[in-house]
Amino acid sequence: GAAGAAGLVIGAAGGAGIASAVSGDDSAPGAGGSPALTSVGATEVAFHGRHQPGITTPLQSRGHLVAFDLAPGAGRKEAAALLRRWSATARTLMAGEAPSGDTGIARDAGPSSLTVTFGFGRTFFDRTGLTARRPTQLDPLPAFSSDAVDPKRSEGDLWVQIGADDALVAFHALRAVQKDAGDAARVRWQMNGFNRSAGATPRPMTARNLMGQVDGTNNPKTTDPDFDRRIFVPADATGAQDWMADGSYAVVRRIRMLLDDWEGLSLEKQERVIGRRKADGAPLSGGSETTPLDLDKRGPDGKLAIPDNAHARISAPEQNGGAAMLRRPFSFHDGIGADGTPDAGLLFVCWQADPLRGFVPVQRKLDRGDALSAFIRHESSGLFAAPGGAAEGEYVGQRLLE
Ligand code: HEM
Repeated sequence: GAAGAAGLVIGAAGGAGIASAVSGDDSAPGAGGSPALTSVGATEVAFHGRHQPGITTPLQSRGHLVAFDLAPGAGRKEAAALLRRWSATARTLMAGEAPSGDTGIARDAGPSSLTVTFGFGRTFFDRTGLTARRPTQLDPLPAFSSDAVDPKRSEGDLWVQIGADDALVAFHALRAVQKDAGDAARVRWQMNGFNRSAGATPRPMTARNLMGQVDGTNNPKTTDPDFDRRIFVPADATGAQDWMADGSYAVVRRIRMLLDDWEGLSLEKQERVIGRRKADGAPLSGGSETTPLDLDKRGPDGKLAIPDNAHARISAPEQNGGAAMLRRPFSFHDGIGADGTPDAGLLFVCWQADPLRGFVPVQRKLDRGDALSAFIRHESSGLFAAPGGAAEGEYVGQRLLE
């Protein structure tokens, strides 16, 4: 993943049990005390900040995406109380502490880079009497011709993204978030995902997806001068978007991969589908993984090195009037589908300051038939407004709900 490491507080674990595990020398392995947490367990991401966690945080190895609908009769007051509870829980768990009445699922583990991120869907605003404050950025995404979207697994009043570098820590947070919902909201859909584990490769490397491709190379970098403008709503946002200052819009798509078909392609054909080499992610126009694509380069046969319909060509910002997004996906695998093929693919999550200058124009182009389209199917869709991060003493969404 190319997402930056903003907001990481490495090793600054908070909970009493954890603090003792990472501090005193007598806790070193073999010294009789409990062994020190590895850096994976001890890594803590800050809950409070300008932006919510889980956007520029490096990809975690486990993820849960959950959408909730407000319960019948629950309105703005109940929603505000829920976001207050959820924020308190997220802050506690992200610091490696146990909430009261804890289930014990994550006992002995550190925060493991846990992040919990909250968003509001289009339908939230009517149910809470806040329609006047719904930004146009939450207008429904256009229908794409290749969509096979299941409405029951799409959209929702509220959305929570959980990520952690440990499966139990992630599940622990998921249970806490579900319990907090209480009578105020019900789970509408839930999806579970994963990425490669920290330490699985000899050095940090860009992730691979279930097609085996290096995926995430050309993501915007936090160090790019236009990163903030592309990914986050401006701090001085006004009008119906004022409460979204420093926030970001998430487009969530469950994209099934037709793996039997994909795996039947020769390596050469697979590489032409994306326009990059499979082994190291280098563009077919030459160089190494990070070499910019040369979209005009032709081979000795006079043909474009990166084919006309290659996914990386069609999705490149220079082909889409500068439209860019931060892709931050998880892979998923839910066994074998009714059709006998793997129910596996990508929980595609992308972040942008405005979906009409990010996901929408790019997906419009891809939908006309890039080379990858024959091997994937978009099965669900969601669009959520994730407000800016909570300041100390504040809860996420307070500027909308108070
Ligand atoms: C690039 C895979 C869906 C937008 C890439 C790359 C791969 C890839 C391997 C090249 C490496 C990189 O720069 O990350 C996939 C797979 C998908 C999928 C397997 C579905 C299962 C999408 C969708 C969108 C999208 C739905 C947006 C509508 C992009 C963008 C780039 C990219 C913007 C970077 C292009 C550039 O600037 O060079 N994708 N992708 N992808 N993809 Fe996808």
